[in-house]
Amino acid sequence: QAQKATVIINADQGEHTINKNIYGHFAEHLGRCIYDGIYVGDSSAIPNTEGVRTDIIDALIELKVPVLRWPGGCFADTYHWMDGIGDRADRPSIVNQWWGGTTEDNSFGTHDFLNLCERINAEPYLAGNVGSGQVKELADWVQYVNHTGGSPMSDLRIEHGRTEPWNVKYWGVGNEMWGCGGNMAPEFYANLFRQYSTFMTDWSNSDGLYRIASGANGADYNWTEVLMRDIPKPLIQGVALHSYSVIDWGKKGPAKDFSEELYFATMKSALFMEELVTKHIAIMDKYDPEQKVDLIVDEWGGWYDAPESQTMGVLYQQNTMRDAMIAGATLNIFNNHADRIKMANLAQIVNVLQAVILTNEEKLVLTPTYHVMRMYNVHQDATLLPMELTTADYEYKGEKLPAVSGSASVDSEGVMHISLVNIDSKESQAVSLKLLGTNSKKMSGEILASDKLQDYNSFENGTVISPKSFKGFKKKGDEWTVTLPPFSVVVLEVK
Ligand code: AHR
Repeated sequence: QAQKATVIINADQGEHTINKNIYGHFAEHLGRCIYDGIYVGDSSAIPNTEGVRTDIIDALIELKVPVLRWPGGCFADTYHWMDGIGDRADRPSIVNQWWGGTTEDNSFGTHDFLNLCERINAEPYLAGNVGSGQVKELADWVQYVNHTGGSPMSDLRIEHGRTEPWNVKYWGVGNEMWGCGGNMAPEFYANLFRQYSTFMTDWSNSDGLYRIASGANGADYNWTEVLMRDIPKPLIQGVALHSYSVIDWGKKGPAKDFSEELYFATMKSALFMEELVTKHIAIMDKYDPEQKVDLIVDEWGGWYDAPESQTMGVLYQQNTMRDAMIAGATLNIFNNHADRIKMANLAQIVNVLQAVILTNEEKLVLTPTYHVMRMYNVHQDATLLPMELTTADYEYKGEKLPAVSGSASVDSEGVMHISLVNIDSKESQAVSLKLLGTNSKKMSGEILASDKLQDYNSFENGTVISPKSFKGFKKKGDEWTVTLPPFSVVVLEVK
């Protein structure tokens, strides 16, 4: 007997657009994300386009990656962009001081990243070095990529083979300035931000630069308070937030073969995102009632202790149905806060943390998280529809979490999409669904589910978990009943 939930959607009351950038990603020079992940070099036997794996390019185009953040993370505040341009043979090396202490040869640089973004139709989001860099260095980077020509940096770009500017809109002014970015107090960083932002001139980018302040560490609400209070509006367009689904930073637990206790704890941490964004947004509302500054969750996802990291790269972890639950539930939260959250970047895109793609030599696997992001991409730039939802609890040893979460949107063609997640590990949920303000009646759907929560796509059997057609709905009068199996993600389409 399934547990009961109810969902009412007001199809004619949409107000806010779900910014497609909520479905953004993040690629850091860390472990095997860039080197031996995305980038194998043009002499590799693995099919590649200017050194970037062609199978990754294809998978990311299919995913509809709207925006990609690079080069970090903590790495960003050690990165000197000028070391990554020009003849590869002449580039200095850099030691990755935060992640693994590996020495990199700077062979993947600005041109490679921005050309990759063009190939996959993603907007680039460059994270600038504030921690160990200088104002001029970051201002020059803006000029290098955005000035049309006839300035020192644009002429250098042209000399290096790129005539047209890339017109990069999204710029991070440092990363985690409260930690690896320089262990700064928020008041100090707010002043630094004002200085950097002033000199990051909008050269030829007609839309204007979009400058994102390094945001709070999870529930550090004072950080957001100080930035919102001390940075004048025209200088800032977005304030960031980092929050990972972590059980305990000292003991994060395994990525696979986890117990139900650990699963429950992970989901509790993931669902905490709702409280977190609500409280940060309330502070933003106080200082910015006109909503000129957006909330940008530019690092999120599950983080575990992974023994495979020893052989498969720093912060490499497998990706199970638990990660699919994190992705589905978190994206529902972001969608439902679409009026203030305008971008989010899952950490990280390939071979690191909650990756959508894993690689091992020539093999490539699409993870359960990839499939959730692909199923949800129907919400990109669609109009958010208000949803009223009641649900039974997922209970474990006396603790409770809401079992069902959801979000809904209508796209420019009038097609409605409803994403529903049941995180309960054992119980199905029978959702009574009412669609108000619409005559659409034709329903179809896709589901991501598996036999065990711990299931994952391996290099040997990479398609075990993949979306299937969903038929678990029936209509009686004006009401649908949609039955969600335990730990499943369903996306319905109504026309
Ligand atoms: O995503 C991994 C790391 O997590 C990033 O480098 C840093 O910004 C965060 O602490």
